Amino acid sequence: MAARIAVFVSGGGTNLQALLDAADAGILKSGEIVLVVASNPTAYALERAKKKGIATAVAWKKELGSQEAFEAVISQKLAEYEIDLIVLAGFMNILSADFTSKWPERIINVHPALIPSFCGKGLYGLAPHLAALEKGVKVTGATVHFVNEIPDGGKIIDQKAVYVQDGDTPELLQRRVMEEAEWIILPRAVEKVSAELKG
Ligand code: GAR
Repeated sequence: MAARIAVFVSGGGTNLQALLDAADAGILKSGEIVLVVASNPTAYALERAKKKGIATAVAWKKELGSQEAFEAVISQKLAEYEIDLIVLAGFMNILSADFTSKWPERIINVHPALIPSFCGKGLYGLAPHLAALEKGVKVTGATVHFVNEIPDGGKIIDQKAVYVQDGDTPELLQRRVMEEAEWIILPRAVEKVSAELKG
């Protein structure tokens, strides 16, 4: 039986789309995406899930009022859908140590830089790319790793390097890192971990 996967999203959901496409292409075969959880009701990623007929849920911390209430809603949904593996695909909320300790090596994240560079608190979304350009590095990339109580601190599963080019803006670099790294290594890592879980 395939591992039951929940994908957590906050925005556009291009990494979710890469996972959905990998499932269609037979690259992701040891795991099945059965739930998409968004951290806000306007995340376009929700539309991508709905188009595929995948169940969705929204856990909006602003509306729920506290980290505890936010994580209680999420945990209830994970139990309801009998989830084995969580994938953070552009999920912009931090999960507490209390939550992550319940899912050891069962939460995967994609980070848009080569950890340990340009990572940790506050470095998410466009920020790692801005920091990479400010530092003047010539190579950046993406990392897929397990999530523990330290932001971007869990065991690394896969990484892929991407060259910075003259004239790059944070937006151009973000797009290239997605195309050349994130959308390739995230599905590959999710397949590997799913196969190991069920193997
Ligand atoms: C991606 O670049 C992802 O790596 C990053 O946000 C973007 C989301 O795009 N995630 C983080 O910074 C989390 N630390 P998407 O919604 O199109 O997948």
